[in-house]
Amino acid sequence: MTTHAPGATPRHYLMCEPTHFTVSYEINPWMDPTRATDTGLAVQQWRTLRDTYLDLGHTVDTIEPVPGLPDMVYAANGATVVGGMVYSARFRYPQRQAEGPAYQKWFADRGYVTHTAASTNEGEGDMLVVGDLVLAGTGFRTERSAHAEAQELFGRPVISLELVDPRYYHLDTALAVLSSDAAAPQIAYYPPAFSPGSRCVLAQLFPDAILADDDDAAALGLNAVSDGQHVVVAPRAVHLADALRDRGFTPLPVDTSELLKGGGGAKCCTLEIRV
Ligand code: ARG
Repeated sequence: MTTHAPGATPRHYLMCEPTHFTVSYEINPWMDPTRATDTGLAVQQWRTLRDTYLDLGHTVDTIEPVPGLPDMVYAANGATVVGGMVYSARFRYPQRQAEGPAYQKWFADRGYVTHTAASTNEGEGDMLVVGDLVLAGTGFRTERSAHAEAQELFGRPVISLELVDPRYYHLDTALAVLSSDAAAPQIAYYPPAFSPGSRCVLAQLFPDAILADDDDAAALGLNAVSDGQHVVVAPRAVHLADALRDRGFTPLPVDTSELLKGGGGAKCCTLEIRV
């Protein structure tokens, strides 16, 4: 099927350099603290990712990395920002809990209205904006009550989706938003990561979605970042890249293999600021 990608729109991202990146604890199946990590390589790959966004004309802000928070590079988990309103993260595991206030302070210091979450939620890791909707994951990290909280704060419909495969513990590991174009919003997802009911919901809302295969998903190909035209995607997600090209998107392979050791890819490293 060939449709036309509606084109790029300028984006504003927040990122955190992996200065203190390592895998020293295990909170998802990708993490193995006995395996060596190369912080220098992680920084190099992260800079390539940042430069890719800058070359595309996007704005990239950075937050100061905090020693002792090796997962802080996964900025997507820091908050969800819609209409200039910041719904702060409240992390499930104690190892990451200090990240929530660090990100909230970054936004507050810059004059954003921030909302301190009552429910556990891991920011954009589990909340993806597509058009006027927010797709929200639950099952491993973010509580369902956070979905209601976000709906009340943003005044947008929040669609709850149940994740069932521990490898795809955040929504952004199993689903990518490609275009928020009002006429034809587009997503890609990996159906086996979702409960039967959630699969039905996705099929109803997005009948033309790209369905990723096992290999694309295992390469964290769905942890992709799209500006509506260019899609930054893991190089090993080759079928997904073909499907993107067929739909008129431009896949841009960026290797974030070192950050995959922590269970994250390009999207995990990228928090979108929507004003
Ligand atoms: N090690 C991190 C964790 O398990 C990885 C987070 C990846 N971020 C994401 N947006 N999926 O929490």
